[in-house]
Amino acid sequence: MANQLEIRDLWVSIEGQPILKGVNLTVPKGEVHALMGPNGAGKSTLGKVIAGDPEYTVEQGEILLDGENILELEPDERARKGLFLAFQYPVEVPGVTIANFLRLALSAHKGGDVSVTEFYSRLQHALETLEWDESVVSRYLNEGFSGGEKKRNEILQLMVLQPKYAILDETDSGLDIDALKIVAKGVNAMRGPEFGALVITHYQRLLNYIVPDVVHVMVDGRVVKSGDKNLALELEQKGYDWIKELAAQS
Ligand SMILES: Nc1ncnc2c1ncn2[C@@H]1O[C@H](COP(=O)(O)OP(=O)(O)OP(=O)(O)O)[C@@H](O)[C@H]1O
Ligand SMILES: [Mg+2]
Repeated sequence: MANQLEIRDLWVSIEGQPILKGVNLTVPKGEVHALMGPNGAGKSTLGKVIAGDPEYTVEQGEILLDGENILELEPDERARKGLFLAFQYPVEVPGVTIANFLRLALSAHKGGDVSVTEFYSRLQHALETLEWDESVVSRYLNEGFSGGEKKRNEILQLMVLQPKYAILDETDSGLDIDALKIVAKGVNAMRGPEFGALVITHYQRLLNYIVPDVVHVMVDGRVVKSGDKNLALELEQKGYDWIKELAAQS
C-alpha cells in the first residue's frame, strides 16, 4: 500500500551474525510511532538499515516507501525520496556553517526546488519553535555543540527539510528536561497528514510530550508487541521481562 513506510519480514546480519530476525512494522503517513525495547534489541540497527548503512547485510525482506522498495537505493537517493534520518549526518563538519549545511541538505533532499524565501521562512519558523537564537546558524555544524544542541540541530534540520518520513533515534542523547520538551515541540510542529515518524526511545517521559499513535516493542530482532501509548506506561511499570517471555513463546 502507498502512503506508508513499511518494513516487511526484514532479516539483517552483520559479519554473519543475525541481528534483525523478521521485523514487521508499518508507519502510515500522518502518524508518529514509538519504537522501544531493551538494549541490544536491534532498534538502532533498524534505523541504520532504513537509512541504507552499507555495514549491514539485508538477508531477506523489504522496506517500502510509499509502495516502492528502497533497499537497492543509495542513502542519498533515499533522502531525495523524502526519508530523513537524524543520525546520518556527520558529527562535525569543519568550515560548514549550519545555514550552509541546511541549504545544501535541502537541495539534496528536494532537488533544489525550494525557493530562498521559502527556505528562510522555514528556518525562521524552526528557530522560533526551538527557542534558538538566529545567530546559531552562522556557527560551524556541531563544532563544540553540547549534546542537547546537537539534538536541537537535528530537529532544526527536520523542520527545514520537511521530509515525508523521519526516523529519530534518541538513544544516548542525554537530553535535560527542557531540551526534551523542545525536541518534542519540533516533532509535534511537524505532525500532519503529510508526515510520518518513528521515534526510537527509552524515555517514557519523552512520550508524554510526543504522544505516539502506536508504540512498538522490539525484543531480540523482532517487533513482539504493538499497542497504544499505554503500552509505554506499562513497560515503565513492569520492565521488559514479561515482554521477553512473550517473545520466547511466539
Ligand atoms: N556494527 C556492528 N558490529 C557488530 N555488532 C553490531 C553492530 N551493530 C549492531 N550490532 C549488534 O546488534 C545488536 C543490536 O544493536 P542495536 O544498536 O541495534 O540495539 P539497540 O536496540 O539500538 O540498543 P540500545 O537500546 O542499547 O540503543 C547488538 O547486540 C549489537 O552489539
Ligand atoms: Mg540504539
